[in-house]
Amino acid sequence: MKIDVLTLFPSMFTSVLDESIIGRAKDNDIVDINYIDIRSFSNNKHKKVDDYPYGGGPGMVMKPEPIYRAIQSVKEDNSRVIYLSPKGKVFNQGLANDFSKEEHLIFLCGHYEGIDNRIIDDYVTDIISIGDYVLTGGEIPAMAVIDSVVRLIPGVLKSEESFKDESHYNGLLEAPQYTRPREFKGNKVPDILLSGNHKKINEWRKNESLKLTYKNRPDLLEKINLSEKEKNIIKNNE
Ligand SMILES: C[S@@+](CC[C@H](N)C(=O)[O-])C[C@H]1O[C@@H](n2cnc3c(N)ncnc32)[C@H](O)[C@@H]1O
Repeated sequence: MKIDVLTLFPSMFTSVLDESIIGRAKDNDIVDINYIDIRSFSNNKHKKVDDYPYGGGPGMVMKPEPIYRAIQSVKEDNSRVIYLSPKGKVFNQGLANDFSKEEHLIFLCGHYEGIDNRIIDDYVTDIISIGDYVLTGGEIPAMAVIDSVVRLIPGVLKSEESFKDESHYNGLLEAPQYTRPREFKGNKVPDILLSGNHKKINEWRKNESLKLTYKNRPDLLEKINLSEKEKNIIKNNE
């Protein structure tokens, strides 16, 4: 997969995406990530990329011409152009899965009050929000989306099983996890996890996953078809 990030702050990305699992995916040529400075596409002698909003109001708006040229410099026929914005569709695991199957993603990061809407109307294929709050720029949202997408590309995680058991993969939250020591500050790891009985461990995990989802994110349960057995597990826990 190829990813091009259009941003006014390319240096924000390297310390995050060059590390750990995503850094390894880059080193192993599973993903090619480039950071493109929108400012370098400004024809203004001061490299200005923003201007006052028409109609008045606070702040500045990113001008269309440098963004247009930046998009054109990388766009291919199969590119998906993703603008990060609090006005977009809220990102989730389903969208991460969808993006992970693409060959080329372009992430457009806004700053200040955002970007001229004509770019969104004519050149953006997806508007994506990472939640109902406002950040200073699209850089942190782009990093969050890239991280969640790249880890789903085959070969990035050691085993596909790693994400199949994770929260949101099947619509539920993951069961609690424990590691050594067996006892920490008087709290013991549940006996079942030390039993070696994998059938029983899987059953316990499934039950805990249902209970945790009911407790923390009951909205998720409304989106999946629960069996009678699963409904009873939740009911017995009420
Ligand atoms: C200060 S925000 C602009 C907010 C805009 N004036 C509004 O009210 O919708 C600047 C930039 O940060 C990014 N941004 C802020 N919050 C975001 C969110 N929740 N999800 C994705 N991008 C966000 C967008 O790229 C946006 O253009």
